Amino acid sequence: MSELRIEKVWKEYGNQIVLEDISLTVESRAFVALVGPSGCGKTTFLRMLLGQEQPTRGTILLDGEPLPPEPGPDRGVVFQRYSVFPHLTVLGNVLLGKEFTAARYRAKLFGAAKREAIEEARHLIAQVGLAGSEGKYPSQLSGGMQQRLALAQALIMKPKVLLLDEPFGALDPGIRAEIHTLMKRLWNDTRMTVVMVTHDMREAFTLASRVIAFERRRDRPEEKIRYGASITNDISIWPPRLAGTPSVFSPDRDGPVAFPGQRQDDLAPSGDKA
Ligand SMILES: Nc1ncnc2c1ncn2[C@@H]1O[C@H](COP(=O)(O)OP(=O)(O)OP(=O)(O)O)[C@@H](O)[C@H]1O
Ligand SMILES: [Mg+2]
Repeated sequence: MSELRIEKVWKEYGNQIVLEDISLTVESRAFVALVGPSGCGKTTFLRMLLGQEQPTRGTILLDGEPLPPEPGPDRGVVFQRYSVFPHLTVLGNVLLGKEFTAARYRAKLFGAAKREAIEEARHLIAQVGLAGSEGKYPSQLSGGMQQRLALAQALIMKPKVLLLDEPFGALDPGIRAEIHTLMKRLWNDTRMTVVMVTHDMREAFTLASRVIAFERRRDRPEEKIRYGASITNDISIWPPRLAGTPSVFSPDRDGPVAFPGQRQDDLAPSGDKA
């Protein structure tokens, strides 16, 4: 389970209302794309889901429990850039979360626990197509590789919810398409709920099972600061409706899931493709 329930959430900074009365239930295992004009509060919303920011009004529940007031291992995050630590190798970056949770003060693992964590990290590094780069530093990787690393770093903690803030926005179109396939596969292979902010409608409709738009309904310039954005569109693109999609499944089933525009061979088991 990994259901997010957002109830009448408002976010204000001083007298600026950023978000206004947001109510939304993100069902377990959904892939939600969040779109909207620049400055409408998408990142702010994601930061509230992460626990980096608190709503000024309203509540956010994860599986029926109030969200802890700080980021935790149940919620992973990947930002557009700079999610990874430049002074750590690929392996070091992926191991970091494990080390912190295992030994909060020393951030070090020892013996069998360490070997196990390294094995898990190597497996994940291979899954995101970075096998062979374990000893490299982020500066030695391309932008696409760094974002793959950031994904591996978030995924090793097996988060219930993965939060993505324009994670692929800075990538070239070719690399983007590649990472989209990877993202679909990762979502498919895990049980996590994904909330992804994107500026790219095509990306939203390619990846997500539901697209949500934030916007200020009242947009008179003199009023801008007085009203926040709210949900203006909520489009369910589930189940896939494209002609020729061979299998249409409910989101709660166990096996592979077909996406709009996705070929069945995109659903190959992990490790088949880099
Ligand atoms: N810590 C903060 N203190 C004060 N105001 C803030 C803070 N964080 C965000 N804001 C304001 O909240 C509004 C929404 O910002 P946010 O970054 O959430 O927008 P966004 O939708 O992610 O925009 P973009 O698409 O450009 O990334 C902006 O007006 C911003 O200035
Ligand atoms: Mg933003």
